[in-house]
Amino acid sequence: MNIDQAIGAVLLAAAVVGSAGAPAAAGQPAVEGTQGYRDEIYRPTEPRKGKPRSGRQVYEYRCKACHAKSTQGAPLPDDDIEWGRRARQGISVLVKHAIEGYNQQLMPPRGGCANCSDAEVRAAVMYMLRRSGALRSR
Ligand code: HEC
Repeated sequence: MNIDQAIGAVLLAAAVVGSAGAPAAAGQPAVEGTQGYRDEIYRPTEPRKGKPRSGRQVYEYRCKACHAKSTQGAPLPDDDIEWGRRARQGISVLVKHAIEGYNQQLMPPRGGCANCSDAEVRAAVMYMLRRSGALRSR
């Protein structure tokens, strides 16, 4: 099985599980747990062609919609205390939460950027972390 087939098999399995209404199995990404429009935005679309976007570009494109106004408690990009607190769980955990979604999808998978690669989502997390100044003291 090559990687594309493997991904296809996983997606197919997820679709079958999802349509049966079964709860997401522990340890799996939050795909099955997403609801309504959040299913829409999680679905990995055609990978975007061209140069990867910078963290700032991804932030401006999607993350800002909630993070700039702290919608539903989204940490503000300039909030060093909040980002410092969250960074203590580990940056890889922060990035995982950004990719898979977090807290019952209040933070939606990929921040709603369906065509963002993992690296682009990571860059956007790093952009907010750096901008907040939370990384300086680490
Ligand atoms: C629909 C609104 C929304 C959008 C769009 C959004 N976020 Fe969030 N995000 C949230 C909310 C709300 C939280 C706080 C969740 C909580 O802790 O209860 C959050 C929290 C986070 C966290 C902290 C997770 C943790 O473990 O504490 C990260 C990292 C994050 N967002 C990254 C991003 C990135 C990167 C983008 C853009 C690609 C983005 N978000 C777009 C709403 C959003």
